[in-house]
Parts: sequence; structure tokens; C-alpha cells
Amino acid sequence: MDSNKAIALFDSGVGGLTVVKEIYRQLPGEKIIYFGDTARFPYGPRPHEQVRRFVFEIMDFLLAQEIKALIIACNSATAAGLEYYRERTDLPLLGVIEPGVRAALARTKKGKVGVIGTQGTIESGAYLNVFRRLAPEMELYSQACPLFVLLVENDLINTPEARRVAEVYLSPLKEKKIDTLILGCTHYPLMADVIQEVMGPEVQLISSAEETARETRETMERQGLLNLSGTSDSRSRFFVSGPAGAFQELASKLLGESIKAYQVVLDHNNPLIRQE
Ligand code: DGL
Repeated sequence: MDSNKAIALFDSGVGGLTVVKEIYRQLPGEKIIYFGDTARFPYGPRPHEQVRRFVFEIMDFLLAQEIKALIIACNSATAAGLEYYRERTDLPLLGVIEPGVRAALARTKKGKVGVIGTQGTIESGAYLNVFRRLAPEMELYSQACPLFVLLVENDLINTPEARRVAEVYLSPLKEKKIDTLILGCTHYPLMADVIQEVMGPEVQLISSAEETARETRETMERQGLLNLSGTSDSRSRFFVSGPAGAFQELASKLLGESIKAYQVVLDHNNPLIRQE
């Protein structure tokens, strides 16, 4: 296996870019291929079977590229069935749920942890299952925050509306006096300032993006796949299922560098990439 190949990531939209950003920071030599399923965003309210079907289509597209690892940079897609995706490939495949739980367990002092995510992620019980396996004695409090992803995708992060929505969603978790809060959706680190303000400085926020990048680095090192020689020039390619322009604009802003995105029409046999 060639360490020079890219690491592929996907999400329903721009959320997975929080993982990309962390990969740039923690694995600066790596090339990235990113897919945002913007035409079918959001995944959160969709049935798991449907999300899995979307994931299989995206995997087929990404596995046809020159890649060495795949990151499901979406909690909703991870929660819908990481074990099913693992059956489809022998490449290292990482989800975003376990890394976040491990980090929370390492940092909580009182053993009172909260997790916020999309409706699909919270209702799946995926976080609860990992908690029960790794630390059955801990208390976990969950809260779905479905409007957060819409605020992020519509670039309304730092607005009074975002603050108000955060106050409403987070008040039950504040009452539980948690000391650690897992941002269980890859869109949420983009709202970290607002969430921190509402929760107060004593609550530690855990970004699944940061932890997933750390775990990716460990996996690449363990398997001798870490790219140490890559340069940061034209290291990334971005694909979306919806219109490329809107994504390109928001992604460039979030990543702090100008990127170019291509629209892909997913088709089993012959995916079509629109070059404009
Ligand atoms: N960023 C995604 C997640 O981590 C999902 C947002 C959505 O499509 O609902 O859950």
C-alpha cells in the first residue's frame, strides 16, 4: 500500500471539514479527498437504512479513487452502521463516535458527561452503547440539537438566533451539572464558541474532529501509511453532490483557504464529475 495515496473523508455537508482541518494540523503531509453529500443533506432526520444506502454509494465513488483510508466524518452516518461499512472494504475505516467517547472518558473528573448530536445519532443510542462498553459506571446525558446543522450550513453561526437556539437545547444538560460535553456531530465544533458560552467555562467541550484526526494518525503510523513527504500544495480535492458554488464559498471560509469543488452525479457504474 502506497503511503502517498489520499485519505478520503465524507459528510452530509461542511461538517466533515472540521475533521479535514484537524488532519491538516495533525497530519500535514497527507492528501485529502472530501465528499459532501450536500444534495441529500441533512442526514440527521433520515432513517438509518437510507443513510446506509447513501454511504454505500459514496464509498463506491471514493474507493474508486487512489485512497489508502476512509473516514466517516459524520456522526449520523457512523451511528447508522459503521460495522456495515467495514464489511465493504479492507482499507482502514474510521468513524467519529469512539474517538470522542475515549477523549471524554479521559477528561471527565466527575464522571458526568453529556453528548449532543443530530436526532439520528442520539436516537440510535450509538454513544450510549460505546459508553456502556468502555465505562459502564459513567453517567451519560444526551440531547439532540437538530437546528445546529442548519445554522452552520447557512452560515448563521455567530448570530443571536444561534445563541437562543443553543440556550434552549443545552439547558437540560446544564441542569444535570455535566463537566464534559461531547460535540457528537462534526458540524458542532463550528459552533463551539456559542456552545461554550452557554455551558460556561467549567464544562470541557470534546470535538470528535480533533480526536478522530488523532486516531487517524495513530492508525496511519501503526500501518506504516503515514505520509511524511507530502507537500501542502494542491493536497486536497473536494466533491459535492449538490451545486459546487455554495459549498466552495462556505468551505473556503471555514478552512481559511480558497478551495475548488466539483459536483458529482453519483451513479453506480459511471459517476459523472461536472467540470463546469
Ligand atoms: N455532520 C453530520 C454529523 O456528524 C450530520 C449533519 C446532518 O446531516 O444532519 O452528524
